[in-house]
Amino acid sequence: MRNAAGLRVFITGGSSGIGAALARRFAQLKAKVVIAARSQERLEAVCQGIRAQGGWAQAVVCDVTDSLSVEKAVAFARESLGGLDVVVANAGFGVVGRVEELTLEDFERQFETNVYGVIRTVKAALPALKESRGVLAIMGSVSGYFPTPGASAYAMSKFAVRALAESLRGELRPYGVSVVLISPGFVESNIRRVDNRGILRPEAPDPVPPWLIMPAEKAAKLMVRAILKRKPELVVTGHGKLAVFLARHFPRLTRALVSRSQARRQPGRN
Ligand SMILES: NC(=O)c1ccc[n+]([C@@H]2O[C@H](COP(=O)([O-])OP(=O)(O)OC[C@H]3O[C@@H](n4cnc5c(N)ncnc54)[C@H](OP(=O)(O)O)[C@@H]3O)[C@@H](O)[C@H]2O)c1
Repeated sequence: MRNAAGLRVFITGGSSGIGAALARRFAQLKAKVVIAARSQERLEAVCQGIRAQGGWAQAVVCDVTDSLSVEKAVAFARESLGGLDVVVANAGFGVVGRVEELTLEDFERQFETNVYGVIRTVKAALPALKESRGVLAIMGSVSGYFPTPGASAYAMSKFAVRALAESLRGELRPYGVSVVLISPGFVESNIRRVDNRGILRPEAPDPVPPWLIMPAEKAAKLMVRAILKRKPELVVTGHGKLAVFLARHFPRLTRALVSRSQARRQPGRN
């Protein structure tokens, strides 16, 4: 799968940020994309942008916390594309706050989207991916290696999808389906403007300094390349690679660094 032309691609969370940039990049390379998210308006805006550049894109409204909604969205994508070669389970958001301040519902809400939403997407899309011997990309995070104070719920969700990706890899190998785990650091998107209930607050400032944030289009280019090469894993951004390297090879140093960092009320989600 070195060439994206003609590929049939389904992306959850395609209305914004990384998912929208992935859709634009795949479409630029002449793939056909179906994007799914809750906001029809934002989905349509992304599709119109792609079509204006001569690309092929369709939108389907879908809430990944609802199994039936995910099954319908996958069925729509499969039907309109005639099959699925690439599925990107990308929809997600970040719950922030210290454990003692968060409620059990906060953790449950985080897992409903970031973990069970990914599982719903995987289960609905697997038959089509087995048919095409395609690629399943799962959006993890550097937080899946490097949890920080004030981001327990989000980091737990990303540890969980990393485990899911690693388990699935062996399960799907006999069917010719590849699993690509993508672990970004800070990438330009709305994630840091979405509150703990999953609602976009466009007026909220991004707490991460701009020099630390990778443009979404640049991140999407690297991600699409990794998907086409069926790379088992991609860590995006320089600081992200450093964090993952430290967590993997210097766990004691990482623990010392993390435990000394201050738990802020609004830590950056990555
Ligand atoms: N940007 C970063 O720095 C960064 C770093 C590491 C990992 N990530 C991961 O990248 C993925 C994409 O996030 P992003 O940064 O691009 O943030 P974003 O700009 O806020 O985009 C999130 C996308 O997910 C969709 N979404 C959220 N809840 C959903 C639900 N219940 N059902 C369906 N769609 C839903 C949103 O659309 P609607 O609101 O319309 O539903 C939107 O399209 C997430 O998994 C995130 O954890 C991001």
